[in-house]
Order: sequence, then C-alpha cells, then structure tokens
Amino acid sequence: MRVTSPDLGVRSITDIPTAELSGRRVLVRVDFNVPLQEGKITDDARIVAALPTIQYLIKYKARVILMSHLGQPKGVTPDLSLAPVAECLADLLHKPVTLVSDCVGPDVADQVASMEPGSVLLLENIRFYPEETKNDPVFAEKLAKLGDVFIQDAFGTAHREHASTAGIAAYLPAYAGFLIQKELTFLDHAIKHPKPPFVAIIGGSKVSSKMGVLTHLLGKVDVLVIGGAMAYTFLKAQGKPVGKSMVESDRMADARAFLQQEAASKTRVILPVDHVVSDEVSESASTTVCKDIPADRMGLDVGPETVALIRKEVAAAGTVLWNGPLGVFELTPFSEGTFAVANALAESPAITIVGGGDSGAAIAKAGLTAHMTHISTGGGASLEFLEGIPLPGITILGKDA
Ligand code: 3PG
Repeated sequence: MRVTSPDLGVRSITDIPTAELSGRRVLVRVDFNVPLQEGKITDDARIVAALPTIQYLIKYKARVILMSHLGQPKGVTPDLSLAPVAECLADLLHKPVTLVSDCVGPDVADQVASMEPGSVLLLENIRFYPEETKNDPVFAEKLAKLGDVFIQDAFGTAHREHASTAGIAAYLPAYAGFLIQKELTFLDHAIKHPKPPFVAIIGGSKVSSKMGVLTHLLGKVDVLVIGGAMAYTFLKAQGKPVGKSMVESDRMADARAFLQQEAASKTRVILPVDHVVSDEVSESASTTVCKDIPADRMGLDVGPETVALIRKEVAAAGTVLWNGPLGVFELTPFSEGTFAVANALAESPAITIVGGGDSGAAIAKAGLTAHMTHISTGGGASLEFLEGIPLPGITILGKDA
C-alpha cells in the first residue's frame, strides 16, 4: 500500500520499504541542467542537491538509473552531452558513473540489465529526443520500461509537462525524492505555515513576470518589499517621478489595481524610497543617489534608505522569502542593494528561503550560500510554484494522481 506523507501531500521515496529497493531498477529524474563554459561545469549545485536521493538508493543496493536534460537541444547535440556531468557526479559520489550514449533502445536496455546492485548509470541527454518535450506517451513508455519504480527529484524541471517529468508516471509508480521533499518543505509548507512576521522581498526587471507571485503573496505575507526595475512601474502608478527608468506602460493598470488590493489586505507593501541613478547601464557608469528620479536619469538600484528599511524588516522577521535582485547586480555600480539584502538575510535569525534563479546567483557571488536556510534549485519552477500554479512534475506524486 502506498503511504502519503501527511505534511507534503506526496508519495515519498521513504514509503518504499528499503528491503524492496535491493536489486530493483530505480529510474530517477534529476535536473542536471548545469551551467557549462567551454565544456566545464561552472556551478555543480544542482548535482550536489541530487546526492541525498542517489546515495540513499546506492546504500539500499538499488540499480540507480538517472535521467536528465541539459540545455534545449534540437536533436543530438554533442556539446550538450551529459559527459561532464557523469564525471562530476562520479567525483562527488566517489564511485563510477556509467554514461550510456542514448536514453532508450535495446543497447540501453542491455546495459541496464547488466547493472550490479548499488551501481549508477546516467542516460544521455533526454532532450536529444524531441518526443521528450512533447510528452510523447510512446517515448514515456520506452523510458518507463528501463525501471521498476520512478523517483521524481528534478524540482528545477517540475514545471515542465514532459515525458520524463510527468508522462512516465502513467507507466510506473512515482515517488518524490529527497530534493523534491526539501523544496516542498520550504517553498510550500514553510510559506503556508510561516513563522511570523513573514517578509517577502520580490525583485526583478518585469512586472509582467512577477505579477503572479506578487498577487499570490498579497494577504499571505505581513510585509512585501518590491524592488528591481519593476518597482518603477509601481512608483509611476503612484504618480512618482521615475525619469527614464524602465516602466511597463501596459502593466500600469495592473500595478494600480494591485496597490488598491494592498490597501484592503493585511500585507504592508514597501516600495523603494530612494534610488541609485545613472544615465547609462555600464560598469563605468557614474551614479548618484536621490529620492525623486530626475527626468534624464534612470533608477538602477535601491538606495541606502531603502536598504535600511529592508534590513529593519528582515532583522525582525520570522520568515523571509526572497526572489529576484533589487538592481542590476551584475554591474558593480548597481550591485550594492542586492548584496546588502543578501547580507541582511545571512545575518537574520529568520528562516530564509531564496527562490532560485538570479537571487540564488547573487547569494553565491556574495559567498553566502551556506548562511541561507534554503536556496531553491528551481528558477522558472520556483517562480511558478510561488505563484500557486500546480507543477505537473509534482502533481503526479500526489496521492490521488
Ligand atoms: C531550468 O534550468 O530552469 C530547468 O532545468 C528547466 O529548463 P528549461 O527551461 O530548458 O525547461
């Protein structure tokens, strides 16, 4: 009988009796879509994050068959082979990882059949087949034939309804790996049952891509800080001078409606009160700080007064959720706000949850990764999750799926 985790609402890898794992072919979807530069992995965080599930399966002598995509290839693309990942994983596990040159077909089936219990095999980039992203049922069934049980641990790809993330569950019993459970614990459970006060800091450049998250959080959080370029659309909607700052004119009505909803909700919205401005977006730009942005300048980072406000809220918070940079942090003149927030989170006693993507990259750049309670491995996936959109790769793990 399948047992569902009472907290997270998904079937868990630990629901499979460990004795039943021995010798079984366990097909695991991981997200090894790691950044590469000239064939070398520049950040192995996603591989490291998948280790607990892999190590658990090795410990209980399963035959571990891993599948992942890398990039968005159109057909077989040697530059997007998972070979560097196999090497990195073997180093991290201190044991051999066999990379097979395909992901379906008789040769792959033969290699799987000859696996020793407790050994690890990595299938080649699953997106070399266009059937993967089309969620082709025939392809999903071919993949499923390689295993006896399916473990979903690819949180970063859980928003994709693909053959290896969703379709496969029609052919194999599906369970959540430890990474999926960790992500759900922080992005779902901790947010539904936060330690108060609950402060959310949402940055990024576009209102259009963050409106869903902002709306979903309104009424749930005590304080909602809006930063990044999208703040200028809100400031303009309030009638404030924003100079040449980036404004999404077609989102102004949404911004106004949002600010009206705020007034009727329990959430207190904080918009930047001062700005780092310049007339150019470059590493050598000269900057000034102001409250009202002059007509010939654009706002490119939050100013020190805003940083002080955020620091105060973060220091008093029980839970902090951060998604999206507060300025153009990739350029030194506009990076201070984002790094100050990263430091404020690192110093805070609160539960700190970072929604992947650029904010995760900023924290890594500041060397503060170890100081956060949780940094999501999902970019697009964490954003959709925070918008309250059901993720197909998670839905298949539910008790009624
Ligand atoms: C990601 O990096 O966000 C995931 O691996 C999903 O990749 P995709 O956007 O190519 O589907």
